[in-house]
Amino acid sequence: MLNFLATVLLSGAWAVNAQTPTERVIPTLAPQVNAAPSLTPTIHDPTAPNAQRCPGYKASGIHYKANGFTADLNIAGANCQAFGNDIANLRLLVEYQTQDRLNVKIWPKYLSLANSTQYVLPTEIVPAPVADGKTTNHTSDLKLEWTNEPSFQFRVSRSKTGEELFSTYGSVIVFEDQFLELTTSMVKDYNVYGLAENIRDFRLGNNHTQTFYAVDAGNTVDGNVYGTFPFYQETRYNVDGKTQAHGVYARNAHGQEWLLRDRKIIYRTIGGSLDFYFLSGQDKTGQSSALETIRQFQVGCVGTPAMQMFWTFGFHQTRWGYQNISVMRDVLKGYKDANIPLEAIWNDIDIYDLYRDFTSDDNTFPASGMKRLISDLHANDQYYVPIVDSNIYVPNPNNASDAYAPFSRGAELGTFIRDANTGNFYYGNNWPGFSVWPDWLLPSSQTWWTSELVSWWHSIPFDGIWIDLSEAASFCAGNCGNGRLTENPVHPPFLLPNDEFQTDYRYPEGFNISNATEAASVSAASASQASILSTRTLLPVPTTTTRGRTIPTPGVRDLSFPPYVINHVQNGHSLLRSAIAPNATHGDASKTTEYEMHNLFGLQISNATYHALLSVFPGKRPFTVGRSTFAGSGKTTSHWGGDNTSTFGSMFLSISQALTFMMSGVPMFGADTCGFAGNTDFDLCSRWQSLSAFFPFYRNHNVKATISQEAYRWSSVAEATRRAIKVRYSLLNYMYTLFYYAHTKGDTVMRALAWEFPQDASLRGTYTQFLLGPSILVTPVLVPNANTVKGVFPGIGQGTRWYDWYTLREVQAKPQENVTMPAPLEHINVHVRGGSILPLQAPQMTTTATRKSPFSLLISLDDCDEASGSLYLDDGESLVPAATKLVKFKFSKNRLTSHINGTYATSAPLKQITIAGIKNRPRGIRLRVGGSKCDERKLAWTHTNDTLSVSGLENFSKTAFEGALDLRLVY
Ligand code: NOJ
Repeated sequence: MLNFLATVLLSGAWAVNAQTPTERVIPTLAPQVNAAPSLTPTIHDPTAPNAQRCPGYKASGIHYKANGFTADLNIAGANCQAFGNDIANLRLLVEYQTQDRLNVKIWPKYLSLANSTQYVLPTEIVPAPVADGKTTNHTSDLKLEWTNEPSFQFRVSRSKTGEELFSTYGSVIVFEDQFLELTTSMVKDYNVYGLAENIRDFRLGNNHTQTFYAVDAGNTVDGNVYGTFPFYQETRYNVDGKTQAHGVYARNAHGQEWLLRDRKIIYRTIGGSLDFYFLSGQDKTGQSSALETIRQFQVGCVGTPAMQMFWTFGFHQTRWGYQNISVMRDVLKGYKDANIPLEAIWNDIDIYDLYRDFTSDDNTFPASGMKRLISDLHANDQYYVPIVDSNIYVPNPNNASDAYAPFSRGAELGTFIRDANTGNFYYGNNWPGFSVWPDWLLPSSQTWWTSELVSWWHSIPFDGIWIDLSEAASFCAGNCGNGRLTENPVHPPFLLPNDEFQTDYRYPEGFNISNATEAASVSAASASQASILSTRTLLPVPTTTTRGRTIPTPGVRDLSFPPYVINHVQNGHSLLRSAIAPNATHGDASKTTEYEMHNLFGLQISNATYHALLSVFPGKRPFTVGRSTFAGSGKTTSHWGGDNTSTFGSMFLSISQALTFMMSGVPMFGADTCGFAGNTDFDLCSRWQSLSAFFPFYRNHNVKATISQEAYRWSSVAEATRRAIKVRYSLLNYMYTLFYYAHTKGDTVMRALAWEFPQDASLRGTYTQFLLGPSILVTPVLVPNANTVKGVFPGIGQGTRWYDWYTLREVQAKPQENVTMPAPLEHINVHVRGGSILPLQAPQMTTTATRKSPFSLLISLDDCDEASGSLYLDDGESLVPAATKLVKFKFSKNRLTSHINGTYATSAPLKQITIAGIKNRPRGIRLRVGGSKCDERKLAWTHTNDTLSVSGLENFSKTAFEGALDLRLVY
């Protein structure tokens, strides 16, 4: 599958790198240690040393405490200098932090010496999980054993059963200033998930290298992309007759790789410390699960995700290429005329004056016109979100009319990242020309960023912010703006989409079948463009920035060309390309380098934007959507999946990308619906609009130089969207309640089938289907030109019943049967799990209107004719709402009851209760609301096709859930 996908997924990085030659130079050298076996080379380098020939460490000076021990680790032989300078003296901490979490930390002993270059991630930047102060090795779910023979090794297992979860036995620990290696053995054919961000099958498999180095290079299958979440969850089937699960989080932000190999995982970083958190995944009963492991990661390690504003769950439209306000008004009208709900419209960099942040083009997006547009949106309960790029333009010093105040204000505070050699600001390149980047290690950056956003809001009164290019991306290699600021504003060093010969002729798979005539003419035009391009030199050839593997120099770190070359997707794997150079420096007391900070820029700019928005909208939940993310980002930001392509393959992979973000504590995730790069078509776009309606963040976006893809452009896409939004908006409260549980307990929003049905090993790799919360099963069409789809109904035969969302008819399927279902273009298969009670609201054109429309309850019965569910309500926007309400529903023994906690009052009534899967028609119905007996004659009810529908409940209470419900079916 992935080979197929790899051929259809093209990078969205706009050929910046795609057209440059690979200039890899592998130096010949006499390695200090023997060359590596092919299993574990530095990328493509058979002559690389084998770090496993290093001597390892011996533990001494053990000091036991109630909750663990500390020790010295001293190198057990001569330095080996595999990929850096060995650090001879280390410290070890083993800490039983909480019942379910064990921490193993290894870091340099003499870190505080002035000449130390080793960097240990500060807790102010990435908080470290802390011990509860009461857990001991006797009360922990986990047990650590260690040995000094032949060198220090440790193993983590479950205290009760002895099941080994992680073990370095049989391998040495390597700790050098630019290279750390630790290997764990794994069970055969292990099931490992996570290590986001990746574009890959959900189950990562046993032959994959996950590289982390934030990069602006599109959605490269199996390559490093935008985010870094060094956390995996492992599931083992049939251990002691049960499924077991646990997790591992390695708190390190350096460039790194996780080599998933047969029966082992090799963890390597190019700096920092070893800081492992082992999560037992066990709940109070001692049983472990994937969902509990994910909770432990969020609650205990990185923090639970931000609660989002209710409106952000509406449908969003953006594109790169809305040329002016009138085009945007046309889009709004297009949606309105097609009767498709649109919650928010966004602007890409088109809004800017000369691509400069915090501006708007006076000709195309004058502030006065934007104010009118936004005020019209607000009058319709719609919203507006613009993009903000991570770089700040540097005006041409020789041109007084090129003044750019956001830069001058920041420069006055000295708040930008610096060049290592000159001490001046570091000048890279991005859309506007030579640019600088805020240095988030300086408090002045927050002050300046807040003030820029607050003042921009006065001219463009946005409702949220979209942060782009936060890897942080630069279009050149190194400090290319040095000495060249007088050339500003320079054009980006490549042609732009829409420039001559840059028409994008790519179309989805199957386009030649569904649109044969058009496909033929597109193919001819594409061939002709390619042939013209082959005769011209259109792109400047960048200077060489690759050196391959370098030889470690004693006492010195090579930041730009580290001895260990990670499998970075840039040409030659160069860390210098398309990013701020690793040797750029920050202004903090330690003069931290970008080498240490690179993967954290996205986290920091999102945090800064979150805090800035608190000043713009005091007391309200900030809405930010960021591209580069790190473990913990979910506390402040949402994420979109970046530059995908208009292909079925890309749409498919958006599901596994979403699931890994749910695991990572960033549930507000969505992909560019209908595809970013390349042209979409009605087939793909209909399917994708339907699919994304079940992702928390639902936005259609595409690149310039491709056809328009708003949902109203094709009748099938419009109809598919209307239908899917109808389902989504009916379920908005369900989604919101899932977020409440994610925010308060670390629960997941979208769920893998394997998480909800852990006993069924056949689901371990499934992501062609997924669940929204525990109750909604989504079976999307993921291939072109289809009118049926196959899917399983997990749990059937073991107590689970499923109902079609649209008809409420119970599914008749055999256990594990791959059922073929009708899937016309405008239809997405959605099923409700028996045992659920879902609070629904009648869908309207906006989330605001939906929130005011009548409630109903959908009760779907399980094998025992029971069901339960809950509903969380608040004002939908306050950081600390003045009032909230949590309603818990239960249906058992033919009786529905509710338990209400909190005082928030909704204005909408409860009108109807529907019970699916109820075989027998009751003789009568009794109802009490808030303890008072109701006159049943005011209720109307029907029983057909095993579905009971009771209406007229609004006669007893004007607003829903004010008093407890008590509905009895009388037989
Ligand atoms: C890259 C982003 O990923 C994409 O969404 C955006 O449209 C372009 N930059 C232009 O701003």
